[in-house]
Amino acid sequence: MTIDQIQTPALVLDLDALDRNLRRMADFVEQHGITLRTHGKMHKSADVARRQIEIGGAHGICCQKVSEAEAFVRAGIRDVLVSNQVRDAVKLDRLARLPALGARVGVCVDDLAGVAELAAAVARHGTELDVLVELDCGARRCGASVSEVAAIARAVEAAPGLRFRGLQAYQGAMQHVQTWPAREAAFAEVAEAVRAAKAALAAAGLPCPTVTGGGTGSYPLETASGLYTELQCGSYAFMDADYGRIDGPDGQRLDAGAWDNALFVLTQVMSTAGPGRAVCDAGLKAMSGESGLPLVQGRSGLTCEDLSDEHCRIADPDGVLSIGDKLWLVPGHCDPTVNLHDWYVGLRGGRVETLWPVTARGKLW
Ligand SMILES: Cc1ncc(COP(=O)(O)O)c(C=O)c1O
Repeated sequence: MTIDQIQTPALVLDLDALDRNLRRMADFVEQHGITLRTHGKMHKSADVARRQIEIGGAHGICCQKVSEAEAFVRAGIRDVLVSNQVRDAVKLDRLARLPALGARVGVCVDDLAGVAELAAAVARHGTELDVLVELDCGARRCGASVSEVAAIARAVEAAPGLRFRGLQAYQGAMQHVQTWPAREAAFAEVAEAVRAAKAALAAAGLPCPTVTGGGTGSYPLETASGLYTELQCGSYAFMDADYGRIDGPDGQRLDAGAWDNALFVLTQVMSTAGPGRAVCDAGLKAMSGESGLPLVQGRSGLTCEDLSDEHCRIADPDGVLSIGDKLWLVPGHCDPTVNLHDWYVGLRGGRVETLWPVTARGKLW
C-alpha cells in the first residue's frame, strides 16, 4: 500500500526513524558500558521490543502491569521486569506463573508485607522471581525510604524462590523538567538517595548487582553518576511532542536532532467550512491530550488548536488546506496514544511495510 491508501486516523510508525533512534541508544549504552532494559509500557508492542533487543542494545524490557508482562512473555520476550508493585492476590498468582513459560521475570517491592506475598506466590507455583527493592528517590510515588531498604532486601534474600537483584530508582517527576541545568539539580537528590541506599545494603552485607532506572529526560545523568547499572528509557524510541520540547544536555530541544519523531497519527481534512481553520478526523479517541496538543509535522504554518472526541481543529490562517489533505500529527504523549489503537502501520520508504499489533493494548490489570 502507499501512504494515500491508509485509512485515517491511523497510528503510523516511521520504521526508518525508529531504527535510527534504537541504534542511537544502542551506541550510547555501548559507549558508556551500561545495560539497557527499555520500557515496554510505552509501545506495548512485542515487535518493537524484539527490534530493541535485535538492534537497539536492549537485553530485556520493563513493563508496568502483570497483564503486559503476560502479553510480552507469550509473544516470546524472554526477560521482563514488572517495574512496579504487585499486591493483589490474583495478580500475584499470575505473576508467579509466568516464569514457567520460559521467561526470566522480575518485580519490584517496597515493603516487608509485599515480600511475604511474593514469597508465598512463588512457593505456591514452584517458580522463582527476580526482586528489586524500589527506592523512593524523590518522586513520592511507590518506593521504600533509604532507611527501609536493607531490611526489605534481607527479607527477599531469605525467601526461597526470590532472588534479590538490587534497587529500582526511577525518578519520574524530573523527566520533563524543561532545562538541563534544572534537571541536573533535581538529579542531585536522586543520586544522594541511591548512594545512601547502596551504602545501607553494603553495610548489611547484601550485594547489589543492579541499580535500574532512568528515562528519556534523564538517562545521561544516571549514566554519568556511576551509580546505575541499567537504564529503563522508553519514549526515546518514538519521541513525542511533550518530550520533544524539553532541552537535552546540549541545550537543544530533544526533537531537534538527538531523537527523531517516529510515531504519528495520520489524519485527513474533512471540513474547511469555517474561515481560517480546517478540521481533521483524529481526536481524543486517536491520541491523548493530557500532555498537550499534537504538533503538525513539517507544516510550520499550521497548528493544532483543539482536540475533541473525533475532531482536531487546525488553525490555517492562509487557507492552504483542502478536503482530503493528510497531516502527520506528533502526539503529545506516546504511551496513552498507543493504547488507543489496535495496530501500528509501519512505513518504510513511503510505503506500508508491515502492520504490527499493539500487543499489550488495554492490558491495564
Ligand atoms: C518505572 C519507569 N521506568 C522508566 C520509565 C521511562 O520512560 P520514558 O523514557 O518514557 O520517560 C518510566 C516512565 O514512566 C517508568 O515509570
